[in-house]
Amino acid sequence: MKIMIINGPNLNLLGKRETDIYGDLTFEDFFETLKSKYDWITIQHFQSNIEGEIIDKIQEVGFSFDGIILNAAAYTHTSVGIRDAVSAITTPVIEVHISNTSSREEFRHESFITPVARGLIMGFGLQSYELAVQSFIN
Ligand code: DQA
Repeated sequence: MKIMIINGPNLNLLGKRETDIYGDLTFEDFFETLKSKYDWITIQHFQSNIEGEIIDKIQEVGFSFDGIILNAAAYTHTSVGIRDAVSAITTPVIEVHISNTSSREEFRHESFITPVARGLIMGFGLQSYELAVQSFIN
């Protein structure tokens, strides 16, 4: 089982970015714990602040991996390109958000990704990623 976690812009700042919303754990620390907890599956992580790099990674793994967990961050609300990449591939994509975007500013309420994702998990902090991993296992 091979799962790729793809994180979009500003998620490299987790742990120091708006900690009241996103928490004080770095993604690297969370990811190490996640990998050791699910050590019988291969979980990889890619982060980019650049839209085209996210599209490239979706295309690269999207015909061979068993699952993609995608937090496109701000691009969730703007990117037709990332949505089209998700539509183009055969690997199922779970959309994930740390915060509950529906309870935040109105511009975060629309997601270009949700209609083409297998499912959406949000609002559980970094645990949202773990719930997405579990959804691929079960
Ligand atoms: C986010 C929510 C987005 O609206 C925001 O732009 C982010 C993070 C989340 O995980 O809660 O950068 O995707």
